[in-house]
Amino acid sequence: MILEELKLTNFRNYGSAAIRWSPGVNMIRGDNAQGKTNLLEAIAFLSTFVSFRKSAAAELIKKDRDFFLIRSAFTAASSPRTLNVAYSAETRYKIRLDGEEKRRAAPLVGILNTVVFSPDDLMLMKGRPDDRRRFLDGEIVQTAPSSQVIFHRYQKALRQRNAVLKGGFSRAAAELLNAYDLQLAENGAMILIRRKEILERLQPLVRLAHRRITGGSEELRLTYEGGLESFFEKKHPFESWRDGFLERLKAARETDFQRGFTSFGPHRDDIRFFINDDDIRRFGSQGQQRTASLALKIGELELMKGQRGEYPILLLDDVLSELDESRREALISVINGKVQTFVTDTGSEKIFQDAVEYRVKSGEIRPL
Ligand SMILES: Nc1ncnc2c1ncn2[C@@H]1O[C@H](COP(=O)(O)OP(=O)(O)OP(=O)(O)O)[C@@H](O)[C@H]1O
Ligand SMILES: [Mg+2]
Repeated sequence: MILEELKLTNFRNYGSAAIRWSPGVNMIRGDNAQGKTNLLEAIAFLSTFVSFRKSAAAELIKKDRDFFLIRSAFTAASSPRTLNVAYSAETRYKIRLDGEEKRRAAPLVGILNTVVFSPDDLMLMKGRPDDRRRFLDGEIVQTAPSSQVIFHRYQKALRQRNAVLKGGFSRAAAELLNAYDLQLAENGAMILIRRKEILERLQPLVRLAHRRITGGSEELRLTYEGGLESFFEKKHPFESWRDGFLERLKAARETDFQRGFTSFGPHRDDIRFFINDDDIRRFGSQGQQRTASLALKIGELELMKGQRGEYPILLLDDVLSELDESRREALISVINGKVQTFVTDTGSEKIFQDAVEYRVKSGEIRPL
């Protein structure tokens, strides 16, 4: 997948910008706070319709303006395509794909495929479980956009169930919970099936990448840490998880009423990373964490390549300076002429031989 052209209007600190990109490595240089990450954020936004910095869409509108517009021309599966996204508080999202107005963003997630690698990812292993869940669920949604609805339904049922729990116990509340428990269990079972699936596909790719970076001296393993594993039956994954989850929800009801929230389910699960059977979260050095997160990103690239038949666009925000020589080389050997890459850098070091360079200053960008 190749992003050919990007035009920004009122996006973050960009008033108006238009850039044609190289299909290889695009090196975006500039001092701090000039707009480098903002550019990557705009590209990633075309892919997921949310900010990878977790900002609300309204925060992406340039100060004192009332809308932003991102326009793009890209090549996917050898066909030229265009994708434009506008947002304003009043009209919300306006999206045009190949010139045609689209009513909903959800089915368009992953039309433009991106993988972001930022300093936050370097902390994924030791960070919070919700970041790890978001990582996994993000993979699911980008490879199968239609699964988004399952997550929405689950979150909705969870909010409703929690609201009932907060209201305290009554017969009416118990009746309501029966309905929400079922919705939670059905959608939860589907989430678990998809998480298991994606982890099984990701696992060998990540291990391979990790073996390459470490020269085979270390073995990385990912495991899913959920409370419903014991219910899983290979022959009937959906039914076994749904019924197991229902059983646990009923059993936890009293405690949940006391606590005022749903204490159990896929929204509390986690992923763990092991190196040679040691949990990285507890025993991993900073270097091991970095290697593991790099392997994870390379695995992600390969996963999407396998799924879509072509590599996604890779966005590297401020991570190169965090990687030592051997890790950089591992990354470069994957990118090498195959993956269109956008790299931000505050320095002037020449890391990629054939990179096309750009300079960003106060929300303006020009080729060097
Ligand atoms: N909605 C907005 N309107 C105008 N300016 C904004 C908006 N949001 C962020 N900015 C500005 O964008 C700048 C930050 O841009 P960005 O995060 O892209 O910097 P950067 O070049 O990546 O810097 P660093 O090297 O520190 O990461 C800040 O000056 C900030 O004030
Ligand atoms: Mg930045």
